[in-house]
Amino acid sequence: MVVGVGCGPGMLTERAIAVIRDAELIYGSKSAIERAAPHIGNGCEVRIITDYAALRLLPENAVVLSTGDPMLAGLGYLGGEVISGISSYQYACAKLGIPLTKTAIVNAHAADHAAAFEVIHGEVCRGKIAFVIADPAFDVAACAMRLQDACPACMIAVCERLGYPDERIAIGDTNAPPVPASDLFVVMAGVF
Ligand SMILES: C[S@@+](CC[C@H](N)C(=O)[O-])C[C@H]1O[C@@H](n2cnc3c(N)ncnc32)[C@H](O)[C@@H]1O
Repeated sequence: MVVGVGCGPGMLTERAIAVIRDAELIYGSKSAIERAAPHIGNGCEVRIITDYAALRLLPENAVVLSTGDPMLAGLGYLGGEVISGISSYQYACAKLGIPLTKTAIVNAHAADHAAAFEVIHGEVCRGKIAFVIADPAFDVAACAMRLQDACPACMIAVCERLGYPDERIAIGDTNAPPVPASDLFVVMAGVF
C-alpha cells in the first residue's frame, strides 16, 4: 500500500493516519517518516528508503510513505492500494486562489528542463495556468524568458516550502520573475 503524507507538516488525512497506526512495516524518505512519526506504533519496523528500485520487491504488508500525493510524481507507480494525500499542486492552487480546472500540470522534476519550457509555453499560449513540478536546478528566470512572447499578462509565482513554517510565495512576471531561495519549490505560470 502507498500512503500520501502531504506536502508539508500537519497534512495527514484521517485515512492515512489509520493506515500508519496499523502498519507493521513502513518504508519512506526521511521527511515522509518524520511526518508520519507521531502515528507510528511501537512495534512497527521503520526503514528509510535507500534503493527506490527495490521498492517493487517489498512484502505484501509493507506500507510505503510518499510525500504529497502519491499520484503526483510520487510513489503511486508502485501500484496496489493508494491513499491520496494533499499535494503541492492542491496546496499551491489553494494559496493562490487558482481553480484546479484552469491549470495544466507540467512535470519538470528530474526532467529535460528545456523541453519542459516548451510544454509550459504551449500550455500558457492555450490559456492554461501551468503548474510546474520543479527540482533544485530548475531555472525560473530562463523559464520566464521563454514565456515572454506567450502572453503579455503572464504572471510567474514561485511557491517554496509549502506548509512549512518558512513557506514563501512570491509573485512576479516574465520580466521580473521571483528567485527561489530554497531547493523545494513549484512554479505557477499564466494569467491569474
Ligand atoms: C518528486 S516530486 C513529488 C511531488 C509530491 N508527490 C506532491 O504531491 O507534491 C518533488 C517536487 O514536488 C514539489 N514539492 C513537493 N513538496 C513541496 C513543498 N512542500 N513546497 C514546494 N514544492 C514542493 C517540488 O517541486 C519538488 O521538487
